[in-house]
Amino acid sequence: MSESQLELCARAIAERLGPESAVVVLTGAGLSAETGLPTFRGAGGLLNAPELLEAFTADLLQRAPRLWWEVFQRLRELLSEVRPSPAHIALSDLEALLRPHLRLVIITQNVDGLHQAAGNRRVLELHGSARRYYCTCCGRAHSFLPEHLVELPPRCACGGVIRPAVVLFGEVTPEEVWQEAYAAAQRASVMLVVGTSLQVEPAASLPAVALYNRALVIEINPETTPLSGAARFSFRAFASHLLPLLVERLRGLLRQKMAS
Ligand code: APR
Repeated sequence: MSESQLELCARAIAERLGPESAVVVLTGAGLSAETGLPTFRGAGGLLNAPELLEAFTADLLQRAPRLWWEVFQRLRELLSEVRPSPAHIALSDLEALLRPHLRLVIITQNVDGLHQAAGNRRVLELHGSARRYYCTCCGRAHSFLPEHLVELPPRCACGGVIRPAVVLFGEVTPEEVWQEAYAAAQRASVMLVVGTSLQVEPAASLPAVALYNRALVIEINPETTPLSGAARFSFRAFASHLLPLLVERLRGLLRQKMAS
């Protein structure tokens, strides 16, 4: 990534932003990789570990809830230890930089809640959240579960098995959040695509929606993806390195723009 490319990118974003502009950020597991959470694909990915992959299947939860929770509990313990990365913080700074004039929407495939923990307010969780739970029998929401669970699986007062509000393999993204995400991609003036291999639908089609509507699309990923050739800027870089640099350049340019 050259300095001039970063400068060009920041200028292109600043030029795109006007009174009614909207910035959308599509994120994936790569954004949380630097917190210590594993990605799904690539080296060290969860999909390489079959026993962990099982924790993401609805079928196993149905057939063997205790076994499912024994595996999922390991991921919960990991989640309890992680904190937002510099990339998450940069996206929170970006939202603060754009407020109140412009909207920033984060569309995430991640279930770790780290965007909200970093301070972003408008977060669409396409695959739900591993920090929210509900009863599989009566549907009652369980906003909190103790870190150490005495009984697995945890049960609701009605006796039903409690599960996290995540979209498991074999399940679909809830229609309402998908419609919001699709509309945000259609309206986007600028879309940042950070830390996703773009292998899973429907999230993978959002950059094409933005491109079709003439948005400025920028990718940050150490590896190439199906978007890399179509994005206006595609940086082979780590999110926690590049995003803070990009937001700092934008801060200066937007200050100049507002002052002029
Ligand atoms: N900064 C930016 N990108 C990174 C970093 C980093 N530090 N580290 C890894 N990446 C990139 C990888 O190159 C890869 O392209 O992040 C991407 C992670 O890809 P996946 O593991 O496939 O994760 P994701 O795209 O979020 O998967 C989407 O698939 O399995 C389902 O539901 C699961 O939400 C997940 C969905």
